[in-house]
Amino acid sequence: MSATARKSAPLPADIRARKGGAPLVSLTAYTTPMAQMMDAHCDFVLVGDSVGMVLHGLESTLGVTMEMMILHAQAVKRGLSRAMMVVDMPFGAYEEGPQQAFRNAARLMAETGAGAVKLEGGESMAETIAFLTARGIPVMAHVGLTPQSINTLGGYKVQGRGDAGDRLMADARAVAGAGAFAVVLEKVPQGLADRVTAELPIPTIGIGASAGCDGQILVVDDMLGLFTAFKPKFVKRYASLGEQAEAAIAAYAEEVRARTFPAAEHVFADAAPGAKS
Ligand code: KIV
Repeated sequence: MSATARKSAPLPADIRARKGGAPLVSLTAYTTPMAQMMDAHCDFVLVGDSVGMVLHGLESTLGVTMEMMILHAQAVKRGLSRAMMVVDMPFGAYEEGPQQAFRNAARLMAETGAGAVKLEGGESMAETIAFLTARGIPVMAHVGLTPQSINTLGGYKVQGRGDAGDRLMADARAVAGAGAFAVVLEKVPQGLADRVTAELPIPTIGIGASAGCDGQILVVDDMLGLFTAFKPKFVKRYASLGEQAEAAIAAYAEEVRARTFPAAEHVFADAAPGAKS
């Protein structure tokens, strides 16, 4: 079913059932107005920990906290009625083990109304994914470039080239086997992304992967041209809102300094003598 025809948000099982079907559409969101704009167009919206870099000026996602994720997810949820909301588990909130992951995932779900959580990692996270899914927490996995691990991956490099492809395939199999209902493939060579998509029984969501994935996701501020500190190769800019916003701010500043704003239509007349206010 297309996102526009839907009356209520899909469940993780509905997303899973879209394997091999019409491509799943998703974007990140961090605020109510942005969520409202994408509600009719996206199957699911991810409150990504990219919020730390995009809205809070952090250099990586490592400083993002549970409190930040909860606050932004609550805002996003207020803007959604037709798209499912997935919320990222931030760095440090799940890696210790299944119990810690359950505690924090349950808090994210209970306090935000999320339909699912996303966490990064392949084979090393399989036990945790199985633990969560067995206890009522749907999990979207994330393999390939996992930004929370940039310090061990050595930066934001393409993952799975050459011999490393087998490792990535094993990671993808492991998260699917553990019960994830979908998996994000980030910065993975196209051929490998296609092979993973062909083999896995769950939808693959590409970001810097392949048009052959079962769905796509982008960081909304990247595709709208609002975040311009850098532009990964896989980002297509569908608008240049950052440039437009800066031009608007410059025009406002000029008019304030020239006393041409506010103009007559923006101010209030004095009350006529005897008129009630
Ligand atoms: O945090 C995020 O925005 C993400 C997407 C890039 C998939 O994880």
